[in-house]
Amino acid sequence: MKMKKSKASKSAANTAGRRSSSHAASSLKIAIAIMAAGKGTRLKSQLPKVLHEVGGKPLLEHVIGAATRVVPAKDVYAIIGHEADRVRAAMKHTGVGFVLQAEQRGTGHALMVAREALSSYDHVIVLSGDAPLITPETIGRLRDFHLEEKATMTLLSADLENPTGYGRVLRKGRSAEVKAIVEEKATTAAQKKIREINSGFYVFAVKDLYANIENLSTANAHGEYYLTDMAAVFGKARLRVVAFSTSNASEVLGGNTRAELVQIDEQMRMAKCRQLMADGVTIFYPATCVMDADVEVAPDTVIEPFVQLLGKTKIGTNCRIRSYCVIKDSVIGDGVMVRPGCIMEDARISDVAVIGPYSHLRPGSEIGEGAHVGNFVETKKIKLGKGSKANHLTYLGDAEIGAGVNIGAGTITCNYDGVHKHKTIIDDGVFIGSDSTLVAPVRVGKGAYVGAASCITDDVPADALALGRSRQIVKEGWVSAKNK
Ligand code: UD1
Ligand code: CA
Repeated sequence: MKMKKSKASKSAANTAGRRSSSHAASSLKIAIAIMAAGKGTRLKSQLPKVLHEVGGKPLLEHVIGAATRVVPAKDVYAIIGHEADRVRAAMKHTGVGFVLQAEQRGTGHALMVAREALSSYDHVIVLSGDAPLITPETIGRLRDFHLEEKATMTLLSADLENPTGYGRVLRKGRSAEVKAIVEEKATTAAQKKIREINSGFYVFAVKDLYANIENLSTANAHGEYYLTDMAAVFGKARLRVVAFSTSNASEVLGGNTRAELVQIDEQMRMAKCRQLMADGVTIFYPATCVMDADVEVAPDTVIEPFVQLLGKTKIGTNCRIRSYCVIKDSVIGDGVMVRPGCIMEDARISDVAVIGPYSHLRPGSEIGEGAHVGNFVETKKIKLGKGSKANHLTYLGDAEIGAGVNIGAGTITCNYDGVHKHKTIIDDGVFIGSDSTLVAPVRVGKGAYVGAASCITDDVPADALALGRSRQIVKEGWVSAKNK
């Protein structure tokens, strides 16, 4: 790359992701390779490491998300190996390319395998599939620093309180230049005290990388090709290796163990809670709440302890979500009260409705404005109209229920005949007495009444009273007669 220093430093100062790719990066072909082939032995899991979830998404999906904000998805390559088919299937929707590292012989080997995919690029940014907190801004800064320094290899380093487990950066004196990276297992007692660690994120000049990568050896504790050894290899070849130290050390955390995964998850959830609070949402005891990254909540809504808001859930203003609710992919309007212990998935709740305690709203439940759904009520694929009430011990499935309807305690829509599902239609203003069963397909017309404990198998016309039960029999004196 030929360019004057002044231009390059301008681009380094101009930080963020793709937009910063100003003069320096835009004339160059830059790829991102994400190392994601490892098994993750330390997790002791059937699931490949990079598919373990933090913040509600697989580790690798977070890294791909950051990468595709720096370069287009077509220039991002995930290097996969262990359970490759499973990883590929899970990440297919992201549109990135895949490189197969059939045998995992180390991080250096991962890049050897990617040679063909990467050889047409000028530079490659290398990320770790198990370090999901990296931001596009930091990747952009690392790239700009690499170009400005005209380096062959640039690594992102960080100063950690506890550097144990990470590779340590050996600098050439106090300069930006790096002599070598020493893996934890190979450190001397003195090197163990170095707090500057290798984050596992790098930028390489592609030609130099592949002209020298064959000089890596497997003479180390794991018998693997370490990508980190490229620092020393380039040093011998008199090529420039520099470290860019990030001030945001938490971004480099890797999820190698269950404990580290939980720590990363906690950090992401907390950041999300902080963002929601900054946007005007009250969250009591945020450490007990689980919020997924894409959740939206409007100001003046209050969230009580032990609430989970998952997936694409969206909540309006002035709602109160009481404790122990798990709400996934649901849309809740304004002024809604969700009492304790409710479970919702793919539900729509209109303004000022009241839900719970202990309601189970399954996919396709649409609850109308001001409607009430109470304790131990299960709904699935239903519309409950404006102001209608189903307050106690009820199952409503595959039903269209109008406005101003009262569903008595213990009502059941019998929607399933063992083979097919059928629909129940209940028109506006209907009153369903307690303990009724409505055997679908069936329709109860506008304003009709159904007497308590009825089994309704035939349509009920508007304005009618339907009784579907046997008449009560009273035998006077029966008990004493029996005991004679
Ligand atoms: C690596 C670095 C270490 C650094 C740390 C930061 C090496 C030798 N060490 O150690 O200096 O401090 O990251 O988190 O690189 N992978 C492959 N193919 C392989 C082996 C690994 O794709 O053959 C992938 C893994 O899936 C993982 C990433 O590379 O996503 C890093 O591998 P990992 O084994 O976690 O390296 P660390 O021991 O963390
Ligand atoms: Ca790691």
